[in-house]
Amino acid sequence: MAATKKAELIVDKAYTIGEVDKRLYGSFVEHLGRAIYGGVYEPGHPTADEHGFRQDVIDLVKGLKVPIIRYPGGNFVSGYNWEDGIGPKENRPRRLELAWRTIETNEVGVNEFVTWANKVDAEVMMAVNLGTRGIDAARNLVEYCNHPQGTYWSDLRRAHGYAEPHRIKVWCLGNEMDGPWQIGHKTAHEYGRLAAETAKVMKWVDPSIELVACGSSNRGMRTFPEWEATVLEHTYEYVDYISLHTYYGNRENDLGNFLAKSLDMDEFIRTVVAVADYVKAKKRSKKTLHLSFDEWNVWYHSNEADRKLEPWQIAPPQLEDIYTFEDALLVGCMLITLLRHADRVKIACLAQLVNVIAPIMTKTGGPAWAQTIYYPFMHASTLGRGTSLLPVVKSPVYDARDFEAVPVLECAAVANDEEDTLTLFLVNRDQEADLLLQGDLRQYRGYRVERHTVLTHDDPKATNTMDHPNNVVPQEGGGATLDDEGRLEARLPKLSWNVIRLTRAS
Ligand code: AHR
Repeated sequence: MAATKKAELIVDKAYTIGEVDKRLYGSFVEHLGRAIYGGVYEPGHPTADEHGFRQDVIDLVKGLKVPIIRYPGGNFVSGYNWEDGIGPKENRPRRLELAWRTIETNEVGVNEFVTWANKVDAEVMMAVNLGTRGIDAARNLVEYCNHPQGTYWSDLRRAHGYAEPHRIKVWCLGNEMDGPWQIGHKTAHEYGRLAAETAKVMKWVDPSIELVACGSSNRGMRTFPEWEATVLEHTYEYVDYISLHTYYGNRENDLGNFLAKSLDMDEFIRTVVAVADYVKAKKRSKKTLHLSFDEWNVWYHSNEADRKLEPWQIAPPQLEDIYTFEDALLVGCMLITLLRHADRVKIACLAQLVNVIAPIMTKTGGPAWAQTIYYPFMHASTLGRGTSLLPVVKSPVYDARDFEAVPVLECAAVANDEEDTLTLFLVNRDQEADLLLQGDLRQYRGYRVERHTVLTHDDPKATNTMDHPNNVVPQEGGGATLDDEGRLEARLPKLSWNVIRLTRAS
């Protein structure tokens, strides 16, 4: 057994990063695989409600307290005619869905999805199609969703049974338009012009909306970061956010390197902030642009199975990654990275939510359960609201294949003045040694440890399955202590995700 390592931490309320926007804990549901059909919506299911929505899925989604859900894609949106999904279901067309090579039945569309989102207490973040369509379809969709009444599209919504407008606030101007795989892929200039004009007109229809321009599909794109610079040159004054997407995998089965991949996410965010601020300076603008990290997760387990899938099925199992314990640790590191950029990243969407690279899995006709990655996300979303503080960390480091000096300890700290709490989210990346953490939290004298929750497992490849849904679950009683001087001591097991929450002793 390896000797325990040591790390030090100082948290000071004066060193703030920024307010945590609750939308940092957003997610994403695409018309893809069994996300909608067999996930969110399954009329014949024993738990289905009067709309055909699975109640077991609703309950699990509510456990994540997701405030905003991006919809309907993803690559799907770039070939989608939103009008196909409104009105009487029996009149809705079946279409070839070219992004994922399936058949889309359109049983669920905008109105059904808004109804479902209301049930899980989330707002919808709507994407418009800038692949095969453009300004006209986008402005009509805003009118259909948000205009109260008295016009063609708003009255049509009312005729469809939705008297009140949906009041959708955040809209994405297309999806991954830099990617050659995208239907209607564009150059940065082509996209920038179209996005600017579409944004202008959408805001004419409803000036209260916020808009997200497409950034790069990932940091490895050949056009990154020139894409961001060019797109923002065109759109800066019209949009409120630039998007980032990233997915990581452990194809080489190198755990130390895999767990360090959140450092790539960190660098990605820093670069996009720099580019946005460069364009701000160039335009002499007073506006500071925020970031929408609206697709992030681990994604690679299902790649091989997806390559073998027969095309043109309805809701086949696609992108059904079965997540391991090590994936949960990286997701934890990614959540910490987002919290440490809370000043600029205001929206983030774990991609996705149900069945498709998702924290929640279902068996069609059967049960629903939480994957390993459900837990760090649930902890951060339910406990990580308030002000993100900048922790000063002294940690042992290691070198990995693609990264130098990887800190063994990752840490984010969130203070909540209303609740009088300080919550620490911590990952010990070390594969051999527990980490003895000593914290100087002298401003938290008079507080007590309310909880020290630990997610760990002997086997990094351990999973939760339908038959063994509780194989990887968090445990309480991690044993952290806080003395009268505000000195924190905690043992963070090797390879573990930890939540330590302090509350004022009454
Ligand atoms: O989330 C799965 C896919 O990943 C999305 O459709 C696309 O935007 C990204 O490439």
